[in-house]
Amino acid sequence: MLLRTTNVSKQFNGVYALKDIDLEIEKGEVHGLVGENGAGKSTLIKILTGVYSLDQGDIYWNDQRVDITDPVESRKIGINVIHQDYVLIPAFNSVENVYLGSEYPKKNGRIDWKSMRKEVEVKAGELGIEIDLSKAAYELTPPQRTCLEIVRAMMTDCQLLILDEPTASLTDKEAEILFSIIGKLKERGTSILYVTHRMDEIFRLTDRVTIFKNGTKSGVVETNKIDKDGLIDLMTEKWKAQAISHSSAIGEVALEVKHLASRDGIVKDMSFQAHTGEILGIFGLGGSGRTELLECIYGYRAVKDGTITIKGKESRKRTPRNSIQEGMVLISEDRRGKAMIGGMSVRENITLSCMERYTKAGRFERKRESEAVRQQIDALQIRTTGTEQRAIELSGGNQQKVVFAKALMTGPNIFLCDEPTQAVDVKTRNEIHKLLRERADAGSAVVFVSSDLKEVLDVADNIQIMSRGRSKELLKNEGLTSNEVLACCYDK
Ligand SMILES: Nc1ncnc2c1ncn2[C@@H]1O[C@H](COP(=O)(O)OP(=O)(O)OP(=O)(O)O)[C@@H](O)[C@H]1O
Ligand SMILES: [Mg+2]
Repeated sequence: MLLRTTNVSKQFNGVYALKDIDLEIEKGEVHGLVGENGAGKSTLIKILTGVYSLDQGDIYWNDQRVDITDPVESRKIGINVIHQDYVLIPAFNSVENVYLGSEYPKKNGRIDWKSMRKEVEVKAGELGIEIDLSKAAYELTPPQRTCLEIVRAMMTDCQLLILDEPTASLTDKEAEILFSIIGKLKERGTSILYVTHRMDEIFRLTDRVTIFKNGTKSGVVETNKIDKDGLIDLMTEKWKAQAISHSSAIGEVALEVKHLASRDGIVKDMSFQAHTGEILGIFGLGGSGRTELLECIYGYRAVKDGTITIKGKESRKRTPRNSIQEGMVLISEDRRGKAMIGGMSVRENITLSCMERYTKAGRFERKRESEAVRQQIDALQIRTTGTEQRAIELSGGNQQKVVFAKALMTGPNIFLCDEPTQAVDVKTRNEIHKLLRERADAGSAVVFVSSDLKEVLDVADNIQIMSRGRSKELLKNEGLTSNEVLACCYDK
């Protein structure tokens, strides 16, 4: 047995985040870990990697009891992790990032960049990873960043690689690259602990899967002895996914974009229309400019050319403030970056964009504000100790829900959604889809970007293909298959 934990427990503010966790990982096994948002998955990972200390319990590594006191110790015994949020330093190039936290080799008293680069090239080569090593991390696409983190993890002797939702922002094709790397690692005898909310990945990749529910272990099973519904049953109280209906009445044009180009050249020539009553999916491969397109429309990113017309009025001056006033909102994928302020409370984050609503005759109505926030927490089932908890303390998926609640508070009727369900568990994902459909049925227009093609096919009425910054086909989502959509994404 490579890793065994017994009775591991951890509390935060007197509440158990984990209780009596027994986990076993064999050598060379791909072990899945699933559970709802806030179930304790990342907390366990942080204990195994020395970020948090455990309150109770023991950890055995190769049948020896070990104390994992800090991240350096964890790496030393052979545990490496790719966290839910990227940890690469944006301005550092790939070689610098790979060597982050380890000692730089020296030659004649100077840092030996040449041998560092060589070493990284060799490791990347072994795994079949191709990245331009001179590029800074911020210039890489999400899958390239994930690959780079894997190279970084494999630089030291790694016996257990932990992946915390690695595919959350990858398209299917990019995820394939990751899966093939996982296959190679497994062949070499490296064990993998794989955390995901995507059930199909569990069935495809893992040998066994452990299920968490509310901080406790509710089961461990061999993957081929269970099905999706069985897993969901172990994760949640009785619940069944509901199919999302398609639109019955698509109305007038709510948002029209014509020949849009961004100043930085990422969006080149994009045109589309989103109607009231419609969920319009926008799909393209990673790096096609989906996020940048939404940022241009919302006013985060400078526009060079083209027009944006909102409810029949051409809008020349795009700023987020104007967007909100015009009833448009951007629900962004980037939790830590733009969408949320970690140090602020859940309440402050949720009402950040609509403070003036709670000011009457110069006085701030705190009570009314708190009431509205509590309603959102209930509606989206945000797992928090209360309105005043700092947002950074919430689990990844619950942070995403806060971002969603904040958007709903502005009372929008045009939704720009960029990976709105990234990192969100199956149940909440379904709730968010339902909620967007309800808004569309009530006359809103929803523009929905997701790298998960299956998700786009589930929710969208129509799908606008985007490739290298340009609009391509517009597909009606009736009996459409993922292959048909993908075929449109590649250059012919
Ligand atoms: N630093 C912290 N301070 C206070 N509470 C915390 C902290 N870290 C985690 N928690 C709490 O512990 C619980 C478990 O969180 P954890 O991040 O492990 O969940 P998770 O299973 O990874 O969920 P997700 O799927 O949303 O990422 C949550 O209720 C969370 O709010
Ligand atoms: Mg997590």
